[in-house]
Amino acid sequence: MKKPDYHMLVCNSFRMAGDAQGYCNKSGAVDLIQYLQEECQDRELDVTISTTGCLNVCSQGPILVIHPNNLWYGGVNEERIDEILDALEEGEAVEEYLIAD
Ligand code: FES
Repeated sequence: MKKPDYHMLVCNSFRMAGDAQGYCNKSGAVDLIQYLQEECQDRELDVTISTTGCLNVCSQGPILVIHPNNLWYGGVNEERIDEILDALEEGEAVEEYLIAD
C-alpha cells in the first residue's frame, strides 16, 4: 500500500456514543470536510482525510490537523482552507491560524 503524502484530520466532535454534537460539528465541520476534499482533488494533493472525535481544543475550533507536518489549525473555514493549502503546496504554514501551544 502506498501511503499518502498527507493525512488531514478534521474534528467533527464525535463522542463515545457516536453522536457528533460538539463545538466543531456545530460550527459546520461537516461542510468543511467536503470542501477540503474537493480542494485537495483540484490541487492533485495526495491526501487522506479523516474525521475525528473531539481533539480537546474546542474553543479554537473548527480544527484541521495536517500530518506529517504536525500543523494544528483553528478557526478553520473555507477561506482559511484555501490559504492553508496554498501554503502547504509551498511547503509552508499559515502561522496566524496555527493553534498556540
Ligand atoms: S469538538 Fe472539535 S476540538 Fe472539541
